[in-house]
Amino acid sequence: MPKAVVLHKHPQGSIQESDFAVVDMPMPQIKDGFFITHNRVISLDAGFRAWMSAGAGDNYLQGMQLGEPVQSIVLGEVIESANELYPVGTMVNARTAWETYSVLDGSDLCAPLQPADDLPLAEYMATLGPTGMTAWIGFFTIGQPKPDDVVVVSAAGGAVGTVVGQLAKHLGCRTVGLTSSADKAQWLTDSVGFDVAISREADPDLTLALRREVPEGIDIFFDNVGGAVLNEAMGHLAENARLVLCGAISQYEAHPEAVTNCWELVTKRARMEGFMFSDYAHQFPEILAELEQRLRNETLRGFDQQYLGIEQTAQAFCDMMHGRSRGKCLVVLE
Ligand SMILES: NC(=O)c1ccc[n+]([C@@H]2O[C@H](COP(=O)([O-])OP(=O)(O)OC[C@H]3O[C@@H](n4cnc5c(N)ncnc54)[C@H](OP(=O)(O)O)[C@@H]3O)[C@@H](O)[C@H]2O)c1
Repeated sequence: MPKAVVLHKHPQGSIQESDFAVVDMPMPQIKDGFFITHNRVISLDAGFRAWMSAGAGDNYLQGMQLGEPVQSIVLGEVIESANELYPVGTMVNARTAWETYSVLDGSDLCAPLQPADDLPLAEYMATLGPTGMTAWIGFFTIGQPKPDDVVVVSAAGGAVGTVVGQLAKHLGCRTVGLTSSADKAQWLTDSVGFDVAISREADPDLTLALRREVPEGIDIFFDNVGGAVLNEAMGHLAENARLVLCGAISQYEAHPEAVTNCWELVTKRARMEGFMFSDYAHQFPEILAELEQRLRNETLRGFDQQYLGIEQTAQAFCDMMHGRSRGKCLVVLE
C-alpha cells in the first residue's frame, strides 16, 4: 500500500514528530507526459523547515499545506511511464515529497540519474546529491577559496558542513568547525578531519573561542546557522574575508536575531553573499563527476545516518533539526 507522511500541524517553534502523520495513499494513476516512481531514498534537508510554518511561502517555494505530503528531495525508480524521456527503469531525483510513490512530469528539479555501480545508491541523495552540490558551489563558486585560507564552518557536523570541511581541508585550508556537543566536536576532528572543532557545550562563549582558535581572523565563514553565530563570526574576520550564506538553521524555529556587526564588512573589505544551489543546475554534471572521483580516490568521505522505512521519516527530520544526527540524514525505503 503506498504511504506518505503529511503535514499534520504547522510546527510552532521546535519541530516535533507529532507535527506529521503517516497516511495510506491510493495507488497513483498517470496521464500522458507523467510517470510514477517507486521511491528508494528520501533526503532530509533542514531548509524545508522554513516552508512548514503557518503562512510560510516566498519567491522560492510555496508554503506547505496541512494534509499534504511534506516536500522533499527524493530518489526513485520509474516503474510506469507515459513520458518518453523517463522510461521504466530510469533512476530519478526530484523535488517531490515524503512518499513511497510519486507522480512526476520531469519538472521541479527532476533529473534522470545514472548511479555508478561502485558507489552506494544512497550517496546520490547525500554527497552526490543536493548536499554535495550545495557544499561545492558554496565553497568554490561563492567562497573563492585559496590554500592557506582559514575556513570556519557552522553546523559543521551536518550534511553540508561535513562536505565543506573536507573540501577545504583537501585544498590546504585550516578548517574550524562549529557544533553543539563536545562529543560531536571530537568526532569532527577525529573522523571528519577538521583541524579544530568548537562546541557550544564546551565553549558557550563563541567570541572567546574564536579569539583563541582563530587569532589571525577568518578568511571564509561558511554559514549554515545565521543569527547570533553569524554576528559573532562577523566580528572575527580577516581582511578580504568572504561570508558564504548557505542557511540560517538557528532562525527557522525562532524569532530572527539581529545581525549588528555589518560595519566589520566595511573595514575588513569583506564580501557576504547568499546563494541557492538550484540556480547552478547547469554545473551539476561536472560537479557530480568530480565528487564521484573524490569518493573513489578517498579524498572525500560520505558521512550519513540512515533511518529505515517511511514511518521513521518524521523522527529522522526532528533528529536532524536538533543536532541528534551526524552527517547527512537519510530515510531508506523498502
Ligand atoms: N543555500 C542552499 O541552496 C542550501 C541547500 C541545502 C541546505 N542549505 C542550508 O544548509 C544548512 C545545513 O543544511 P543540512 O540539510 O545540511 O542540515 P544539517 O546541517 O545536516 O542539520 C542541521 C544541523 O544544524 C545544527 N543546528 C540546529 N539548530 C541549530 C541552532 N539553533 N544553532 C546552531 N546550529 C544548529 C545541528 O548541528 P550541530 O549539532 O552541529 O549544531 C543540526 O544537526 C541549513 O541551514 C540549510 O537550510 C542551503
